[in-house]
Amino acid sequence: MFVLLGMNLAVLVFASAATLTTFALDNGLMRTPPMGWLAWERYRCDIDCEHDPKNCISENLFIDMADRLFEDGWKELGYVYVNIDDCWSLKTRDKQGRLQPDPKRFPGGIRKLSRYMHDRGLKLGIYGDMGNYTCMGYPGTPLDKIAVDAQTFADWEVDMFKFDGCYSNATDQEQGYPLMSKALNATGRPIGYSCSWPAYQGGLPPKVNYTQLGQLCNLWRNYGDIQDSWDSVLSIIDWVFENQDVLTPAAGPGRWNDPDMLIVGNFGLSKDQSRTQMALWAIMAAPLFMSTDLRVISGEARSILQNKMIIGINQDVLGFQGRRILKEKSGIEVFWRPLSNNASALVFFSRRTDMPYRYKTSLSKLNYTADSYKVTDVFTGKTDILKDSTDFVVSVNPTGVVMWYISAAGKLRFHHLSRDGKLHGPAYAAKENAIPPVFL
Ligand SMILES: *[C@@H]1O[C@H](CO)[C@@H](O)[C@H](O)[C@H]1NC(C)=O
Ligand SMILES: *[C@@H]1O[C@H](CO)[C@@H](O)[C@H](O)[C@H]1NC(C)=O
Ligand SMILES: *[C@@H]1O[C@H](CO)[C@@H](O)[C@H](O)[C@H]1NC(C)=O
Ligand SMILES: *[C@@H]1O[C@H](CO)[C@@H](O)[C@H](O)[C@H]1NC(C)=O
Ligand SMILES: *[C@@H]1O[C@H](CO)[C@@H](O)[C@H](O)[C@H]1NC(C)=O
Ligand SMILES: *[C@@H]1O[C@H](CO)[C@@H](O)[C@H](O)[C@H]1NC(C)=O
Repeated sequence: MFVLLGMNLAVLVFASAATLTTFALDNGLMRTPPMGWLAWERYRCDIDCEHDPKNCISENLFIDMADRLFEDGWKELGYVYVNIDDCWSLKTRDKQGRLQPDPKRFPGGIRKLSRYMHDRGLKLGIYGDMGNYTCMGYPGTPLDKIAVDAQTFADWEVDMFKFDGCYSNATDQEQGYPLMSKALNATGRPIGYSCSWPAYQGGLPPKVNYTQLGQLCNLWRNYGDIQDSWDSVLSIIDWVFENQDVLTPAAGPGRWNDPDMLIVGNFGLSKDQSRTQMALWAIMAAPLFMSTDLRVISGEARSILQNKMIIGINQDVLGFQGRRILKEKSGIEVFWRPLSNNASALVFFSRRTDMPYRYKTSLSKLNYTADSYKVTDVFTGKTDILKDSTDFVVSVNPTGVVMWYISAAGKLRFHHLSRDGKLHGPAYAAKENAIPPVFL
């Protein structure tokens, strides 16, 4: 969706691209990770509209966020979903057994909101729970209510549905998540389907079957809820990359691991930590759902969330989820994601807590062996040409990152990418251009 750089030269060959073809849920949606806004982390179950009218879960909140997405440049960057989470409904179903929004907080009903979104080129998401109750105690969607609830959401012209798993057991989930996938399909309305199923089953095989999930759901939460803290962000990063051998093959166009919302713009992260979340969510090919108050967001947080180059990396059409390729004793970790147009992204992350660390390496030490590359620092926009053998130094702040977009700079070079995510293959003889040493 974004032209990152004037790319015309080759670096990588996806030797095994064909074998990586996986089957995704056949609803044509979310070929790149979905982007938008989701109420939960920032707004939770605030239903006190009397005392907190600006922030309570109500029609007004979602309309305000839609206005911000539409007017403040978010929509053009791809942030189009406006998603309701828990606490939108009444505590009882209507006479026909259908879920109903709280009429005090949603006087126009959900249909009014979907129309509001669609009039602005945005999309509306809604929430339900595969079980007796939602996590906050609102009516759930047990097995016998799946068809009627799917139809209700389609009637309301909803575009995405998050199916949580509180108050259900593993047996119910095994039936319910596939049944909902079928029921959504049967409505005839393409509705993006987010499954919380793996998060309730520990996120790993053998309890979780990622092949099956990819056929049923467009995205799935596989780990605990994010909170407004660096500890929470770091625990998610650690879990995902410790389990990358299981998780990365599960991802691809139409099927994404969801490490949960972006909390950039809230209270818990420093500038460097905010950059780290954005950078690593791009490496992970994660859905980008902001959960922050877009009415009062700072310029600093906005510029991180609106960084075109990082969004372009996140939205890369190949849909490969990236990997951690190095864990240094110094506390520096290196992450890598292969991208289309023979490009790639690198993130240097520091777990240190003392001071900016000057990390010295070279592209060849990171298995880039194609002579020379064009390297762009995605936060500063600085670009340079870097020879694979040239030692360089990046200065990485504590809990921060340096992130690079890397493309070919020289003649055609061939590499091979194997399934294990490492670069292999012959390096072609370097043309002896005078390439100055570069230190971004
Ligand atoms: C990528 O590299 C391959 C092999 O060198 C080449 O055939 C292909 O045209 C390149 N693609 C782009 C977009 O440069
Ligand atoms: C339903 O599934 C069929 C077969 O997989 C697919 O062709 C169709 O596009 C799907 N429809 C919707 C609305 O998801
Ligand atoms: C859901 O409700 C049914 C019927 O009341 C009950 O049998 C079942 O144990 C409940 N399940 C859970 C997981 O609470
Ligand atoms: C799971 O919950 C359902 C009802 O929600 C109940 O009928 C079933 O016995 C439960 N299964 C187990 C293994 O607890
Ligand atoms: C996982 O799901 C796929 C697709 O539904 C199925 O073919 C495969 O047998 C399942 N694997 C296991 C270990 O159950
Ligand atoms: C580079 O490739 C070698 C050989 O495949 C591998 O052992 C090493 O871990 C790789 N290094 C990185 C940083 O990926």
